[in-house]
Amino acid sequence: MQQIKYIAILGSTGSIGTQALEVIKSHPQLFKVKVLTAQSNVELLIEQALSFQPDEVVIGDETLYQKLKEALHQTPISVKSGMEALCEVVALPEVDLVLTALVGFAGLKPTLAAIKAGKDIALANKETLVVAGELVTELAKQNQVKILPVDSEHSAIFQCLVGEIAPIEKIYLTASGGPFRGKDISFLSEVTHQQALKHPNWIMGAKITIDSATLMNKGLEVIEAKWLFDLSVDQIDVIIHPQSIIHSIVQFQDGSMKAQMGLPDMKLPIQYALSYPDRTQNNFKRFNFLDYPQLTFEQADTKTFRNLALAFEALNKGGNMPCIVNAANEVVVAEFLKERIGFLQMSEVIETCMAKLDFIAQPVLSDYFESDNQTRIFAKELVTSI
Ligand SMILES: NC(=O)c1ccc[n+]([C@@H]2O[C@H](COP(=O)([O-])OP(=O)(O)OC[C@H]3O[C@@H](n4cnc5c(N)ncnc54)[C@H](OP(=O)(O)O)[C@@H]3O)[C@@H](O)[C@H]2O)c1
Repeated sequence: MQQIKYIAILGSTGSIGTQALEVIKSHPQLFKVKVLTAQSNVELLIEQALSFQPDEVVIGDETLYQKLKEALHQTPISVKSGMEALCEVVALPEVDLVLTALVGFAGLKPTLAAIKAGKDIALANKETLVVAGELVTELAKQNQVKILPVDSEHSAIFQCLVGEIAPIEKIYLTASGGPFRGKDISFLSEVTHQQALKHPNWIMGAKITIDSATLMNKGLEVIEAKWLFDLSVDQIDVIIHPQSIIHSIVQFQDGSMKAQMGLPDMKLPIQYALSYPDRTQNNFKRFNFLDYPQLTFEQADTKTFRNLALAFEALNKGGNMPCIVNAANEVVVAEFLKERIGFLQMSEVIETCMAKLDFIAQPVLSDYFESDNQTRIFAKELVTSI
């Protein structure tokens, strides 16, 4: 009989967070929610708290604390707000596993707090590894903490490695190519955020959906893979696979390749990360070969979708460069969603930030916060001047 796992979900109101709650709800004998958090969607957080009865809830936006507190005042649920509270709740003694399903650089502090408290991490928040992968993975090693990937590509690699002791020769991260696959520069110069938000295969939060359209998501995943699987840059390749059935591939030193496949449904990698090392029965729709008579592959077009090339460049350069790319990208995606900047200008701003901001070869934790802050200020100035 498996022991019940007590889970803290950071970002429970988002795309990953809500799907994780569906998984948890269908396995009450395996999982129990201890902590739920959101940034500003207080209505959904209240609904989730009443339904899942966690010990603690945290709202990031402190102005919404009172509303949350009042809504839950007849329950024993403890209510908190702000970043410091996020760092506290991940360290609660009853929590076994922290699912980092919040978006962006904001994930770094609470992830570090959870690792320091010895909690295993189910990591969806790739930006944390992009910004400070070396520091985070080193701290996880020191604290004997497992980092279990939730991203479907990294979950695929992780699943392919179960039972293997042979070294990896290389990995192939698959990418759908997003809604603008095959389009040229003149087409991209006119696209709107509504078009960019229509991903062909996945329904996800706004930021990652735009990142998928620009191929920055794949770039961030390349950096994430480097740290999760301890690889060098030339061991990581990207291949466009428009059907999103093969989620990624490992090639071993004898040339043998293992792929993990299935329908595109994030609930599967979420469930695997929560139940690891076990696999758990579920009623998710199964793959049928005859629905997909052709699985196809293409080279990624990094001349048109420059963000992928910029991410590789940042990884090659190392130091705080991935942190600069991440911060600039967070700014331009937010500005693109507000229609203040065009699709192609996103790469231009990121590239200028990479060229102009201070490079630090061996950053310490405070350097990441400083770089993130500096980059956001500079990127916003660049957007304003466009
Ligand atoms: N969605 C996917 O299918 C998918 C797949 C692979 C990886 N990921 C990764 O998983 C992470 C979450 O993605 P998502 O698509 O689920 O995002 P999302 O739908 O935008 O949800 C983000 C969650 O984080 C909370 N949040 C936002 N900003 C925050 C802040 N500054 N501090 C604390 N909490 C904050 C949000 O709260 P509010 O709702 O109150 O705003 C929400 O609960 C990202 O790193 C993404 O790259 C997602």
